[in-house]
Amino acid sequence: MAGGKRMSQQVKDVVEEPTAVAASPGSARLALDGKEYELPVVVGTEGEVGIDISQLRAKSGAITLDPGYGNTGACESAITFIDGEAGILRYRGYPIEEIAEHGCFTDICYLLIYGHLPSKQELADFEGRLTYHSMLHEDMKKFFEGFPSSAHPMSMLGSMVASLSSYYPDGAKSNDLDLNIARLIAKTPTIAAYSYKKNIGQPFVYPRNDLSYCSNFLHMMFSVPAEPYNVRPSVDRALNLLLILHADHEQNCSTSTVRMVGSSQANLFASISAGICALWGPLHGGANQAVIEMLEHIRADGGDYKKYMDMAKDKSSGFRLMGFGHRVYKNFDPRAKILKATADEVLAELGVRDPLLEIAKGLEEVALHDDFFISRKLYPNVDFYSGIIYRALGIPTNMFTVMFALGRLPGWIAHWKEMLADPKTRINRPRQIYIGATQRPFVPIDQR
Ligand code: ACO
Repeated sequence: MAGGKRMSQQVKDVVEEPTAVAASPGSARLALDGKEYELPVVVGTEGEVGIDISQLRAKSGAITLDPGYGNTGACESAITFIDGEAGILRYRGYPIEEIAEHGCFTDICYLLIYGHLPSKQELADFEGRLTYHSMLHEDMKKFFEGFPSSAHPMSMLGSMVASLSSYYPDGAKSNDLDLNIARLIAKTPTIAAYSYKKNIGQPFVYPRNDLSYCSNFLHMMFSVPAEPYNVRPSVDRALNLLLILHADHEQNCSTSTVRMVGSSQANLFASISAGICALWGPLHGGANQAVIEMLEHIRADGGDYKKYMDMAKDKSSGFRLMGFGHRVYKNFDPRAKILKATADEVLAELGVRDPLLEIAKGLEEVALHDDFFISRKLYPNVDFYSGIIYRALGIPTNMFTVMFALGRLPGWIAHWKEMLADPKTRINRPRQIYIGATQRPFVPIDQR
């Protein structure tokens, strides 16, 4: 459960604390400076408990301090449920394992954004929109000319997505919003593929309307004008699965960024572009690139992964096992479980032998039996095996985080839309505890 404990356990813990005592399941009491404050308790549909402190400062003058927001719920949301202790992930109530088995990415985009599984007609209409809005405005191709060919594709993706707002400004009607949502989902694969083509100096390949969403992306990535290119169905299937598994993960760093930026009523494209930038970091989506770089490094160093396990345990080494650990999952990441099995299947189907897969499995095996990792509940996360599958599909390492962004797009959009529709939404503006110098007289430059 995302918030940690269920109602009964939570109340018990609160009762044992001297300063914060649960008055009833409907409220909690906080003692501060000799005064008591009653705070309402909110319970989610899966039994998660939250103490509503929205009136705390007004009533007591105090704020809460929670660096990294590990104990702070910033919103109520009906999109994704995670139980990190039990390794559960559900989109709109549907278990990720069932979604992974039966869903296709566009179906899941619709589910996340509009809240229900689309009917056949709704899905056909939605996919039609995605197909017919996949081309970029021709002027946008000129933007790519300005980037150096060595530009990281994430920097091009973030800039180009923000630039879409110049071409498709917010309209007043709700239809315009849905159209902009479709445009964004339709054009992002085109931008992503063009970023890759820019990197390798090949001509941009226009989208094809006869192809499915994933096949069209693969076509724009890998085809060249000089010869025909056929998408292998197994590659299309694997890509669908990868995108689905990344599609949402409730209030993670990039999604919270999208909500934060969107709370100022910045437009859809600007808000999503901010999420792309947040995703880029190696502690978040950038971890999938970092995992492969780490595995390659271990391989080049003779493949002795135990040496790197020891380094990961030694804090002074500054080395972390990339693709391991998660703020929320303290048992296993259900997405990693699916991907580990998929990595074996995809590599076998494509006839690829990747020595990095063996190193990855070796690292996991050692970690699962090592006290350091067991006691800290560090397990492989979604990024640990995704890179190995992307490699097998021919996706270059510096595009891995872009692939993550393609997958996360519907989640970001769903949260942005939910936030805008929520009457409780206010501009996001955290407080701080100031620890700097107290008042002192300014010293003019000639006296310093
Ligand atoms: N390797 C070695 N030790 C680790 C690792 C790791 N990958 N992750 C956490 N630890 C240790 C920490 O040193 C710390 O030890 P301590 O309690 O003795 O001080 C303890 O485990 C808790 O770690 P925190 O950093 O406090 O955990 P937090 O929840 O803040 O961070 C994070 C989570 C960022 C994912 C972290 O585990 C990490 O850096 N992992 C590697 C990067 C990675 O794979 N990121 C992708 C996350 S999934 C995603 O965004 C899609």
